[in-house]
Amino acid sequence: TPVEPCDFTVFGGTGDLALRKLLPALYLRDRDGQLPDGFRIVGVSRAEADDEGYRVMVEAALVEHVPSDELDATVVRRLLGRLHHVTLDVEDVADWHRLHERLKDGAASDDVIRVFYLAVAPALFGPICDHLDQFGLATERSRVVLEKPVGTDLATARAVNEAVGRVFDESHIFRIDHYLGKESVQNLLVTRFANTFLEPLWNSHWVDHVQITVSESLGVGERGSYYDRSGALRDMVQNHLLQLLCLVAMEPPTYVDRETVRDEKLKVLQALRPMTPDLVDRDTVAGQYAAGLCDGAAAPSYADEVGHTSDTETFVAIKTEVQNWRWAGVPFYLRTGKRMSERLSEIVVVFKEPPHPMFPHSEGTSEANRLHIRVQPDEGMRLHMTAKEPGPGGIRLRPVSLDLSYATAFGQRSPDAYERLLMDVVRGNTTLFMRRDEVEAAWTWVAPILERWSEPTHRPRRYPAGTHGPFAANTLLERDGRSWQETGIE
Ligand code: BG6
Repeated sequence: TPVEPCDFTVFGGTGDLALRKLLPALYLRDRDGQLPDGFRIVGVSRAEADDEGYRVMVEAALVEHVPSDELDATVVRRLLGRLHHVTLDVEDVADWHRLHERLKDGAASDDVIRVFYLAVAPALFGPICDHLDQFGLATERSRVVLEKPVGTDLATARAVNEAVGRVFDESHIFRIDHYLGKESVQNLLVTRFANTFLEPLWNSHWVDHVQITVSESLGVGERGSYYDRSGALRDMVQNHLLQLLCLVAMEPPTYVDRETVRDEKLKVLQALRPMTPDLVDRDTVAGQYAAGLCDGAAAPSYADEVGHTSDTETFVAIKTEVQNWRWAGVPFYLRTGKRMSERLSEIVVVFKEPPHPMFPHSEGTSEANRLHIRVQPDEGMRLHMTAKEPGPGGIRLRPVSLDLSYATAFGQRSPDAYERLLMDVVRGNTTLFMRRDEVEAAWTWVAPILERWSEPTHRPRRYPAGTHGPFAANTLLERDGRSWQETGIE
């Protein structure tokens, strides 16, 4: 069913995120009949573009970023007809008058839903909200979307949250973590809580450890100036990896609704073993890619990509624990990096060995059960088990697997995360967005690592592009008698 008419304003409307992700997502929702008449999209940026110029820019972006078999000329025209552009310098009051006029002019109704998507630097979040307030644009029917990063550490995150919170009620603030919009991530909740067979095993009695890997084969590309000040810990771990960890580890919420799910995730963040300088030294690894071979082509080093030497990490591996009744003593190993051997995001739950070896004299091999939850690409699940190899002789054990491929099972395209999340914003559903206390709890946990790593003696270890990261990341598991599960679902 279509959402309500809405004025969807994107600050940073000519930026990379808007052109690569937000507008293609809105196009696909329009194509599926979800955008009603009266749904307008207003791009706001400093660019000197009029509506026509903006439409040309967006059309080119759609052609580039929407798969060609999804492009329909009629829908493209319809979407372009919804577009407007307002040139605005945040500090310039005259520009704000123009935005105000534009939003009042031709709006579907006086109390139309207004979305303000802030795809700009977090330093601008507060000033933009203040202006929205001054110009009467922050109404009961307005919502604000904060693109990550929300701050660069705990103090700046608090300051941003304070500033935005002075204008918008928490129920109208949507802090986006696009991993929560991914189909397979949402399915994790359904798999855990709409089935009975997993939950009794989902604890320290049966689970040996959990691995969460988000690896990318791309480098930093054009985003060097942002990334070099950020690094993988802020860019990926503080948000995406910790959110995945929360969904794996959280207790069943009473219902899947906005507060209960977020309450349970918060409890996981608060139960993470606090990092101390010693633990940081022992249980974390930072890496940075050197030149190498990635996706079959020569790849430059990180320093070459950003144009100077740097101590910013492009790889992180961390061992942690969730210190509560369910998970006591179960290690959670997290790992993420750029310019790794392949693009692969996967959660692996490794179960314990059977308590008693029943087949000590059999041939073949048996392995502990493992559940691989593939987030991307090729979403699906694979349960590794041991079976008897058919044959008349003795018992020969062989590892086999139960496979669920989403593409095969459902035969339809998985929507992009932003498609789901943008419609949730218009509908006012904050369940898949991060609440203020969650973001701050995540920064609190990350803070001692940031602090230790900022010391001058700390240097990320180099790893060749196209590999699994620095060797020390393997040692992190090997010293516990474990190893990274490199192969999941082929
Ligand atoms: C973003 C990070 O949040 O997530 C990027 O800023 C990263 O550095 C991206 O590449 C990964 O997203 P996805 O959906 O491609 O896994």
